[in-house]
Amino acid sequence: MTTETTEDAIAFEIDAQLQDRPDWLYLLREFEALYRHGSAGGSKAIRAHRKKVRDRLSASIAKNAGFVERAPAEKPVTAHFNRALDLGERGAMQGMARALRQVRGRLVWEYGYEKVPPALARKYAYCEVLGPRGPVRSDKLILGFVLFAPNTTYPQHSHREIEESYISVAGAWSENNAAVYAPGSLILNRSGDEHRITTGELDPCLLAYAWTGSSERLTAPGMKLSAPRRKPG
Ligand SMILES: [Fe+2]
Repeated sequence: MTTETTEDAIAFEIDAQLQDRPDWLYLLREFEALYRHGSAGGSKAIRAHRKKVRDRLSASIAKNAGFVERAPAEKPVTAHFNRALDLGERGAMQGMARALRQVRGRLVWEYGYEKVPPALARKYAYCEVLGPRGPVRSDKLILGFVLFAPNTTYPQHSHREIEESYISVAGAWSENNAAVYAPGSLILNRSGDEHRITTGELDPCLLAYAWTGSSERLTAPGMKLSAPRRKPG
């Protein structure tokens, strides 16, 4: 075990290096391929975001980033995880779904809020696979997955000084009632963009996500839901 000191002077006990954890390395390679080969759909902002994600990720892989063991944790929504992986393995994101299945018992599912609304506590959770808290250590990038139960509304929120992209792995979902996204689709939410997510009635929805920002902001993102709208929808 070694200690790694980050730019923001947080010391972590490092249990291993990425090369010693091939299942996690292969999962990160799936992210790298997605952000390298996927289309930006003609959007300069999405092209720039994709490049930022893959450059930061490639740097973590190249330097054989530290690996921090964390105690696995589940949440009520993880009862839907098997179904989400089954759906993911049948579709455009099968490589990602298969790689994720290999680490499924070691994921740390969490809420990210001090006070999670009771209705959401049973229908949502996320897990990080790379970031300031590990398991794969990185200061400038967070990669993870968010899982929603069928028929969920994730309330309106935004992220300050963080750029967020979601890529659908399984299930159908909509953001701000603007479109329905299928596996393989990417959505970019820039700093301050308000967004609200709804998921389909019958199946769970699993999204891969990436956050870029400063190491300070990624270490303490200060997640808050926006004040509810007067008129839902
Ligand atoms: Fe978000």
